[in-house]
Amino acid sequence: MAETIVLGSDHGGFKLKNAIKTHLIDLGYTVKDLGCFTEESCDYPVIAKAVANEVLSSQNKGILVCGTGLGMSMAANRFDGIRAAVCTDTFSAKMSRLHNDANILCLGERVLGQGLAFELVDIWLNTQFLAGRHKVRIDMI
Ligand code: RB5
Repeated sequence: MAETIVLGSDHGGFKLKNAIKTHLIDLGYTVKDLGCFTEESCDYPVIAKAVANEVLSSQNKGILVCGTGLGMSMAANRFDGIRAAVCTDTFSAKMSRLHNDANILCLGERVLGQGLAFELVDIWLNTQFLAGRHKVRIDMI
């Protein structure tokens, strides 16, 4: 069965979220889009909460997009069990999975070009957690 990815954005990340949605569907993923669904101004903590709760209950990975990725990560990381990583470079995207077992990737539409954003998504989704000593540290968070 296709892996499901939970998606969310505010208005600042709306276009990139939709582009990522198409990209993921083209790659064969199933996508659960929790909004927003228009470019009208909305509040990123509301979307971050919805995606965080869905990631926790489904154990699927999530991707949150706002203008910078920062507000989404701050809001999502308030939920116990969420490890949301803002990534702007490929090394961090890889390491956030390998060492931190990030379960939400946060991206900034006003920071990233679409090409780099897709590369970050691909690397992040295709990198497995190393566990071992890193699991011990995650359990300490
Ligand atoms: C919205 O203008 C903007 O503040 C939001 O998308 C995000 O960048 C917050 O961190």
